[in-house]
Amino acid sequence: MEIVSKSSEHTYKIGKIIGEKLKPRDILALIGDLGSGKTTFVKGLAEGLDIKNPINSPSFLIIKEYKGKYPFLHIDVYRLKNPEIELFNIGFEEYLKDDYIIAIEWADRILSYLPDNRLEVEFFHIGNAERKIIFRPKGERYKNLIEELKECLS
Ligand SMILES: Nc1ncnc2c1ncn2[C@@H]1O[C@H](COP(=O)(O)OP(=O)(O)OP(=O)(O)O)[C@@H](O)[C@H]1O
Ligand SMILES: [Mg+2]
Repeated sequence: MEIVSKSSEHTYKIGKIIGEKLKPRDILALIGDLGSGKTTFVKGLAEGLDIKNPINSPSFLIIKEYKGKYPFLHIDVYRLKNPEIELFNIGFEEYLKDDYIIAIEWADRILSYLPDNRLEVEFFHIGNAERKIIFRPKGERYKNLIEELKECLS
């Protein structure tokens, strides 16, 4: 499923609609170049999850935890040189076993460490203010989620 986002507000709103539908243990793998809209989308997710604290880019922190409707982890692996070792060091495996919702920027760098069931979201620049957003649901849970998103957008 593909959406052309016409503005950062549009990307934010799509994130918010999805955020409202997320449940603990949902995993979102966000893929796309610098400035393609991943963090903008995560800010929308956070609003949909009733998170009051502002979402910053966690580039220097790698991982940041927020509390809203459910516990939410925002991870950015851009700076990881050895994802296998560094993810182990931050206790990523333990987070996966817990009741978090997890969104990961630059997830293409760690796809092999992620559960097979996940929602992949890829962002492409197509203009100054336009982005193509491709949703690739892996597993029944995420196929249903994307069907719900389509209904909301139609
Ligand atoms: N349609 C759009 N969707 C999202 N962002 C847009 C759009 N049009 C313009 N922008 C702008 O593009 C930038 C996207 O930045 P954002 O931090 O969300 O990207 P990112 O993918 O997280 O980048 P990084 O890889 O550096 O973390 C913002 O400055 C935003 O205002
Ligand atoms: Mg970002």
